[in-house]
Amino acid sequence: MAVLDQLTSQEAMDLENKYGAHNYHPLPVVLSKGEGVHVWDVEGKQYYDFLSAYSAVNQGHCHPKIVGAMTSQAQTLTLTSRAFYNDMLGRFEKFATAYFGFDKLLPMNTGAEAVETALKVCRRWAYQVKGIDENDAEIIVCENNFHGRTTTIISFSNDPVARKNFGPYTKGFIKIDYDNLDALEQALKNNPNVAGFLVEPIQGEAGVYVPSEGYLQKAKALCEKYNVLFIADEVQTGIARTGQLLACDHENVKPNILILGKALSGGAYPVSAVLANDDIMNVITPGSHGSTFGGNPVAAAVAIAALEVVKEESLAENAEALGQLFRSEMNKYIAESNIVTLVRGKGLLNAIVIDDDEESDTAWNICMALRDNGLLAKPTHGNIIRFAPPLVMNKEQLLDCVAIITKTLKAFEK
Ligand SMILES: Cc1ncc(COP(=O)(O)O)c(C=O)c1O
Repeated sequence: MAVLDQLTSQEAMDLENKYGAHNYHPLPVVLSKGEGVHVWDVEGKQYYDFLSAYSAVNQGHCHPKIVGAMTSQAQTLTLTSRAFYNDMLGRFEKFATAYFGFDKLLPMNTGAEAVETALKVCRRWAYQVKGIDENDAEIIVCENNFHGRTTTIISFSNDPVARKNFGPYTKGFIKIDYDNLDALEQALKNNPNVAGFLVEPIQGEAGVYVPSEGYLQKAKALCEKYNVLFIADEVQTGIARTGQLLACDHENVKPNILILGKALSGGAYPVSAVLANDDIMNVITPGSHGSTFGGNPVAAAVAIAALEVVKEESLAENAEALGQLFRSEMNKYIAESNIVTLVRGKGLLNAIVIDDDEESDTAWNICMALRDNGLLAKPTHGNIIRFAPPLVMNKEQLLDCVAIITKTLKAFEK
C-alpha cells in the first residue's frame, strides 16, 4: 500500500489503533482536508471545526499567507540548529517581542516545552536574582490546571489519568485553589522560597473556567508585593482566542513571564515561546536550555505570518463580537432547555455544561450527533463540551453553527 493511497475512514482508524500508542481517544472522524473554518473527512463530508485543534488553528485551516510563508521558507532553509545563526530567528524575535511588549523571547516547539522553559527560567531567577537558597525554590500552581504532560508538569496536575504510574514526581510546587486570592496570599505570606505563580488566565482543559473579574489583576499585585514572578500560560487562551490579543489583556495585566504556543503558528507547525524582560531572561546562558528545532527558520517564518494575520484580519475583535453573539444565542436556548445548564467563556473560547453527571457519556454522545450534523467538538471533562471555532468565522457561519448545535441538543432533551 502506497502511503498516499486513499483510505476509508475505517481503514485509517484501524491503522492508528493497530500501530499507534493509544494515548488519545479521538472522536471517530478521519479528516483529510481543511480550509478556513471547515474540515473534510476522507469520504468528502464537510464539517465546521469547533475545536480548532485545541485553539491552535485560530487563523483558520491552511491560511494562504501562513502556508505561503511556510512553503517558501521550506524551499530555502529548514533547519540549522542553534549551533549556527540563521537569518530568520532574529527577525521573529524582534517582531514578536515588539508585538507582545517584552525584551526577549526564547523559542521552543510545543506548549509543554514552553511551560518547562518558563519553570526553568523562574527557578534560575529565584536563585540568581531573588536569592533563594539552591533547590529551595517553590512555584505556586492551581488546582485543576492543565499545562501539558511532561513528567514535571504532571507532577503538579491533579488529573489522575495523566499522573497515575508516572511517578516519582518533581518537587517544588504548591497547589492552591484557582480563582482564590486568599489562598494565593496565604501561600505567598511567610514563605520567602516562593519564586513564581503559574496560572492559566482561563482554565481551558478543566472546562473553560473564567475566573472572577479582577482576579488576574489582584493576583499580579500580590505577586509584586511578595517579589514573585507572575507566569501566564496563554498557550490556549493567547493570540486573540478570548477577544483580546492575550486573555491577561482583559485586565490590563502584564505577566513577568508569558508562555505562548498553539496559535503562534496558526496550527501550521509546532511553534511555542517564552517571553520576558531582560532582568528575568538574562538568567538563561549558553547550554542552560535549548532545543534542536526551537527557533528554526520555518518556525520563525510561520510565526511572523501567523501573528500578522491576527492583526490584519482583526481576529481579536471578531472573536469578541462573535463570542458575545454565541453566548447570547446559547443563553436563549438554555432558557428553554433542560439538557444544558449554562454556557460560559470569553471571546470564542466557550463551553456548555450538560445537565448530567460527570461520569455519564451524554456529552460524548452529543459530540457524536454534532459530528453527524456537520460540526466537530469534543468534551473537555465529563459533562462539559468546549466550543472553540477558528477566529476567521463570520456571523452567518456562526449562526449556522448555533442552529446545528441547538438542533442537536434538542434531540437529547429529557
Ligand atoms: C494552557 C495549556 N498549556 C500547555 C499546553 C500544552 O501544549 P502542547 O500540547 O502543545 O504541549 C496546553 C495544551 O492544551 C494548554 O492548554
